[in-house]
Amino acid sequence: MKAAQFGEYGTPEVLEIADIAEPHPGPGQVRIKVRAVGVNPVDWKIRSGMLAEILPATLPLITGTDAAGVVDEIGLGANGVAIGDEVFGVTSTEAIHGGAAAEYAVLDIFTAKPPTIGFAEAAGLPTAVETATRALDDMHLAEGQTLLIDGAAGGVGSAAVQLAARRGIRVIGTASEANHDHLHALGAIPTRYGAGLLDRVTALAPDGVHAALDIAGQGGLLDLIALTGDPQRVLSIADPEALNLGVHLSARVGPAAPAAWHALDQTADLVRQGLFVLPVGATFDLHDAARAHQHSQSGHIRGKIALTVA
Ligand SMILES: NC(=O)c1ccc[n+]([C@@H]2O[C@H](COP(=O)([O-])OP(=O)(O)OC[C@H]3O[C@@H](n4cnc5c(N)ncnc54)[C@H](OP(=O)(O)O)[C@@H]3O)[C@@H](O)[C@H]2O)c1
Repeated sequence: MKAAQFGEYGTPEVLEIADIAEPHPGPGQVRIKVRAVGVNPVDWKIRSGMLAEILPATLPLITGTDAAGVVDEIGLGANGVAIGDEVFGVTSTEAIHGGAAAEYAVLDIFTAKPPTIGFAEAAGLPTAVETATRALDDMHLAEGQTLLIDGAAGGVGSAAVQLAARRGIRVIGTASEANHDHLHALGAIPTRYGAGLLDRVTALAPDGVHAALDIAGQGGLLDLIALTGDPQRVLSIADPEALNLGVHLSARVGPAAPAAWHALDQTADLVRQGLFVLPVGATFDLHDAARAHQHSQSGHIRGKIALTVA
């Protein structure tokens, strides 16, 4: 089968289309004929080698963990699923395992694709909704409280805005101005990130913000601590500096917090009811995986990036 993989760490060009043996499902897993792959920043962070010390990959590695497609093999004990079912999910609960960007992929965790969305949109869901749900669960906000989300327009942010709003939380989200309509449509009050953030947010929330979620990881933590008045009311998913500032850094791997994989079923239900949407802002062919990584690396994303697989 064809797969987008890399045999050494480096720039996006190390990604190549290779012809490799097809995988087969183990116990509890399914194999899918992949129709689309969700691209996440962790994919290029792993490919570049910047995470090699904390998440060493076994090379060559097929990029990507999020995928959607049609079930064509079922592993022992994988119940409630049939050949021909349309599903989406993750190849592995550990980001470093990759395996999605190929003609066939084995999924560890999966759920039925809502018929109301396409494969590209479904492939964009897993990491974004798991992360957003884990972060919101960790923050224990009550209905009516105000949450500031820094970096609200991308994959995790677009999911977090909607899931927080569904919990009755008032959301202020930061994005570049080009993405303000997008944020507004998802249920957030948009504002620009960067210089002057304190004044802008204070004007929007004169009674203060109860908590802040740093999704961008772009150095905004001191502002978020100032706005909430307490580092323990700030949570980051992307800035290692958090650990030096008394801010909780939430990660899917490691002992810190259990992953929120139940979010896949929950969000699929919301999608079926027309209550959740995670738009795909850019789509690339599997053969253009390097360009998809470049786009993700640009850091200015609306919704998700997907690879389509013929
Ligand atoms: N810890 C975990 O479990 C976990 C899980 C998933 C992701 N992550 C990490 O979380 C980060 C975000 O992931 P993602 O999938 O949401 O990324 P994404 O889809 O690439 O979105 C990034 C967003 O950041 C915004 N942004 C860029 N510069 C900014 C700045 N200076 N201040 C505020 N926002 C800014 C962009 O908005 P504009 O386009 O409007 O500029 C863009 O929408 C990545 O670093 C990723 O590796 C961590």
